[in-house]
Amino acid sequence: MYLYGASGHARVIIDILNASGITVDGMFDDDCSINSLMSIPVKHEWNGESPIVVSIGNNVTRKQITEKLNCEFGTVVHPSSIVSPNATIGEGSVVMQGAIVQSGATIGRHCILNTGASIDHECTVEDFVHVSPQATLCGNVHVGEGAWIGAAAVVIPGVKIGKWAVIGAGSVVVNDIPDGVVAFGNPCRIKNFYDFEPCHYPKKIAIYGAGGLGREVAGGIQRINAAGKGNWTFVGFYDDNKQKGFNISHYGNVMGGMEELNAVAEPLAIAIAVGDPKTRKLILDRINNPNIYFPNLIAPSFKVLDSLSFKIGQGNIIQDKCSVTCDVEIGDFNVLNGSNVIGHDVKIGNFNVMMPGVHISGAVNVGECNLLGVDSVVLQKVNIGSNVTLGAGSVLMTKPKDDHTYIGVPARKFDFK
Ligand SMILES: CC(C)(COP(=O)(O)OP(=O)(O)OC[C@H]1O[C@@H](n2cnc3c(N)ncnc32)[C@H](O)[C@@H]1OP(=O)(O)O)[C@@H](O)C(=O)NCCC(=O)NCCS
Repeated sequence: MYLYGASGHARVIIDILNASGITVDGMFDDDCSINSLMSIPVKHEWNGESPIVVSIGNNVTRKQITEKLNCEFGTVVHPSSIVSPNATIGEGSVVMQGAIVQSGATIGRHCILNTGASIDHECTVEDFVHVSPQATLCGNVHVGEGAWIGAAAVVIPGVKIGKWAVIGAGSVVVNDIPDGVVAFGNPCRIKNFYDFEPCHYPKKIAIYGAGGLGREVAGGIQRINAAGKGNWTFVGFYDDNKQKGFNISHYGNVMGGMEELNAVAEPLAIAIAVGDPKTRKLILDRINNPNIYFPNLIAPSFKVLDSLSFKIGQGNIIQDKCSVTCDVEIGDFNVLNGSNVIGHDVKIGNFNVMMPGVHISGAVNVGECNLLGVDSVVLQKVNIGSNVTLGAGSVLMTKPKDDHTYIGVPARKFDFK
């Protein structure tokens, strides 16, 4: 048997082959710096040697490599695993130590059933799935292509997990999970924290708010797709102030308002493209459809100078040419509307809107529902609470009072007479 991929995952497969009395005839890896694994030489050019197992844990990479190899694939089953005679295991799949596959289960091609995974009766596991160590699929669970079930996750009977979905370690999945999302927790909920990686499965997205910001965000989605940072299918706009069917532009039509959005029967990502912070929050409060989830839409040009210390929540829209330096945290449902520069140790809460050109110096906290006007500046260590409006071109030098508007250089409280 040959192996393609000389990583930690391959080590386990070598052990399984040894325990099954099967010789490893050779190994391959695209990484030319890896020359041997467990004393087995690793070659970097494959010339049709087979049968072969693609010994790569990452589902996407395993699929990509598999598609390049047009040959016979091996199937590897550890002798300590229990596979029902009434179950089927597809070619290229690996069943590790102590895994159990019960009667009527169907396991696809190039799957990994990791150490101690439990696949109960009549489960269907499609191709390129990874069921991590000690994860349990109860009876009649359906796992879509390429999904990754994290270690010790439990999926209750009859649940359907979408294609290329990721289920976090230790989750308890009690409802169906849509295609291509990251979900975790008990009960397992959709999160989609940091969608920098290209999503592998096309996902539907709509925009709530069919005004100017809505069109800007629609263009942003196109640029994310064009840069290979996403695979969104834009389906249209929702807006309570525009008629259903109204054509917004070449981007699409209005599909209805909140009532229609709350009745959507399939998973749908929503970007809230409304510039008024409080209205953003009110809109979110009115969405009660569990099929709706809120990814971050991040322009490909966004620069994070220190990604290790960067944190971001969900539902944020970051338009072109924004940058953050180090130790920056961005909460949920904020809009950075382009050319925003954010310094070190800045914490942005939720529902804030920064118009184009806003600069925030170091060690600033921005609370909730604040609106920072075009080209405004917040100096270092100035904390902003909630519901503050900073006028265009203003420079905020001292802490503002909540619920007030500040204008000028230096910015002063502006009383509307
Ligand atoms: C779900 C998962 C993919 C998310 O990864 P991620 O997007 O990098 O998320 P992060 O690590 O940045 O965590 C983001 C937040 O979610 C929380 N979180 C992450 N995974 C979680 C999980 N499985 N359960 C509960 N909370 C989780 C983190 O604590 C963090 O919370 P905070 O913002 O309050 O600090 C990952 O955590 C996971 O569970 N992977 C499965 C690992 C596994 O089973 N490997 C088996 C290999 S054989």
